Amino acid sequence: MKTVTLSTLQAFKRAGEPFSCLTAYDASFARAASAAGIEVLLVGDSLGMVLQGHASTLPVTLDDICYHTRCVARGKGASLLMVDLPFMSNASTERLLTDAGALMRAGAELVKVEGEAWMAGGIRELTRRGVPVCAHLGLTPQTVYQLGGYKVQGRNAEQASRILEDARTLVEAGASVILLECVPASLGRAVSEALEVPVIGIGAGPDVDGQILVMHDVLGVTHGRTPRFVKDFLAGADDIHSAFRHYHEAVKGRQFPAEEHCF
Ligand code: KIV
Ligand code: NA
Repeated sequence: MKTVTLSTLQAFKRAGEPFSCLTAYDASFARAASAAGIEVLLVGDSLGMVLQGHASTLPVTLDDICYHTRCVARGKGASLLMVDLPFMSNASTERLLTDAGALMRAGAELVKVEGEAWMAGGIRELTRRGVPVCAHLGLTPQTVYQLGGYKVQGRNAEQASRILEDARTLVEAGASVILLECVPASLGRAVSEALEVPVIGIGAGPDVDGQILVMHDVLGVTHGRTPRFVKDFLAGADDIHSAFRHYHEAVKGRQFPAEEHCF
């Protein structure tokens, strides 16, 4: 695989070719995912749940994320490395800039931040300083206690148009990528069609530009209730390497997500 950059993702979007993304937390799995052709690796704050065993992503610290970013950066190969800003990095613009700087120094190539239209100011300051941003909308796990649980977002027309408007605002502010989590497939499609920038979906239907899953879910190591959008690619595969390859090929061939994975 040629080195994946933001330009590569934009070219995929223009060509109508979907791309695959997967979370990674260490060098070995990053190497395996990259070797399978997965274009984007995310050091997600989901590590608080899948690695640390917490019930949410809130306990994850900047140091935790930096540690895992350094590990993944050593194994990432040609994949693009996206990294989550942890809970409360957006407490102030100054903190946002400092925290994003730490992630970039640890090896991030794109930072992901949760937040609605009000994040526009912070995103503008980051992009001005050369830090590319992915804005995460829809179900934002850092606000789970306010949302009252991990629930599908944008179900009614008013909520859906608000998410679309927020996405537009954040792209205008400089966001290079949008990530949509747990929204109806129709909204995933509308946001992708409305925007020039790549839109990555998780539980956002088939008509977005890229798909992402948590690595543990792809390998069938899901704890508790299995979300609808998840697929275990290790079931029926010979080993982890072929599971990653099957996931990548299913995304590229538009076989994943299927109807049963969508809202
Ligand atoms: O932390 C994470 O793994 C994420 C993905 C689910 C998009 O943010
Ligand atoms: Na996250």
